[in-house]
Amino acid sequence: MKTAVLLSGRGSNLKAILDASQSENYPAKISLVISNRASASGLDYARADNIPVKVIDHTGFETRDDFDKALDEILKEHKIELVCLAGFMRLLGRDFVMGWKDKLINIHPSLLPAYKGLNTHARALKDGVRFVGATVHFVRAEMDDGPIIAQSVVPVHKDDTASDLAERVLKAEHRLFPAALKLVASRRVRVSGHRVLIEGAESADVILTNPIL
Ligand code: GRF
Repeated sequence: MKTAVLLSGRGSNLKAILDASQSENYPAKISLVISNRASASGLDYARADNIPVKVIDHTGFETRDDFDKALDEILKEHKIELVCLAGFMRLLGRDFVMGWKDKLINIHPSLLPAYKGLNTHARALKDGVRFVGATVHFVRAEMDDGPIIAQSVVPVHKDDTASDLAERVLKAEHRLFPAALKLVASRRVRVSGHRVLIEGAESADVILTNPIL
């Protein structure tokens, strides 16, 4: 499945996806990487693998809608079938999201629906939760909302700081995102209301997509 990855910065999740996509029979082909910031260091991972890179600088557009339209055009020009948001720090408008419904997936560093938005790890620590994690989900118009494809659970250790947690969760993300993308790109995933059903999977198979359990 022709897949694009959108990012705004470091790109460690892109790197994890690129590495996974080298393996035989991986069903997603990363065909385009787009950033809204020219300085995003993650673009270097794409360049190193000779993957087409585009920068669509959001500051050059008058409205969110104009930016979204430019993005949509480039994705269509490249015949992209599936879009992964991997640290893409722009909210996409309702029209764009609806146009890419169930073809647009995002990774978020929390066990959604808990801790939507920013500073997830610091907020979780403050609340004293015992487990945090990461979620890959289909994107809907509300921020960090949408049917959940896969999650990874990460324990909180005594004396953890927010950056300890961020590091532990990021490691889990690097296994989770390629696993979730594999499920979607192999067309085994169906959305039913708010739930994601994985064809031919017993619950044990789904747990296997969770690298920590
Ligand atoms: C990740 O923590 C991801 O969950 C969040 O943004 C961060 C991106 O990191 N949406 P990277 O750019 O992939 O290294």
